[in-house]
Amino acid sequence: MSTLTKTGPATAPQGAADLQTKATTAATAQSTQAAPFITTTNLRKSFQMGPTMVHALAGVNMTIEQGTFQAIMGPSGSGKSTLLYLLGGLDRPTAGHIIVGGHEIDKLDENALAAYRRRFIGFVFQSFNLIPSLSAWENVAFPMRFAGISRRERQKRAFALLERVGLADRRGHKPTELSGGQQQRVAIARSLVNEPRLVLADEPTGNLDTASGQSIMELLAELHRDGRTILVVTHDPRMAAFATHQIFLLDGCVVSEETYREGTELAHASTPS
Ligand SMILES: Nc1ncnc2c1ncn2[C@@H]1O[C@H](COP(=O)(O)OP(=O)(O)OP(=O)(O)O)[C@@H](O)[C@H]1O
Ligand SMILES: [Mg+2]
Repeated sequence: MSTLTKTGPATAPQGAADLQTKATTAATAQSTQAAPFITTTNLRKSFQMGPTMVHALAGVNMTIEQGTFQAIMGPSGSGKSTLLYLLGGLDRPTAGHIIVGGHEIDKLDENALAAYRRRFIGFVFQSFNLIPSLSAWENVAFPMRFAGISRRERQKRAFALLERVGLADRRGHKPTELSGGQQQRVAIARSLVNEPRLVLADEPTGNLDTASGQSIMELLAELHRDGRTILVVTHDPRMAAFATHQIFLLDGCVVSEETYREGTELAHASTPS
């Protein structure tokens, strides 16, 4: 049984009996409004490196609506991967709170956090992270191994997922027998095994040529159209254009697009050529 706990629905301000009708109507409207899918409050992550403390995330406050496709942009070291890892429950914050789908994930114990990762999250990495000795379908089926699912059923589901990502004819190939784009498709198929509501992708196109990168972004856009919430870290504005929303990070903080442009242009201007 899962130890995942859920927070109650967002409560609306209680209207006093003598409030005007208009105000009461506003409060009722607020009570029926869905809470955001993801909320972070003053989210901080710091690393002690010898005598210095690195503040990878320096107080991130953000909300993300369900069913959006978010591109996370930011210079190297701005905290993009750290943010993704915290949202995916792969690491824990130093301070602050994260709510995903009603779950306060910073408060979960190790077992509950593992259940959260398994049930909610599909993770896609820049370097694919496939197991070299396993075929494409075996890689996709791998996360099902410990879930008490028979080999036959695992194979059936893996085949269906490979078909979903356009690789039905490559299911017996080992990773070294696949192109980079195909390997990333296998990794995406694997991330979908538990039908996650949230797909987190850390520079999934970083190791790919432009055409392969675009087709991976198109695949993520399809997953978004299927109703999933997608967060993709990317350095490439062409890839970011596939998203419905963009989040800009500078020095561990979420900033406006304007501040981001000013900050990154300034950095470019001061870089010696
Ligand atoms: N495990 C760690 N130990 C120490 N410092 C870390 C660790 N992980 C990240 N950092 C530091 O935190 C900061 C943010 O790192 P992060 O990996 O989130 O950046 P990023 O935006 O993903 O960068 P990149 O675009 O290069 O992948 C960096 O200064 C990094 O050196
Ligand atoms: Mg990174």
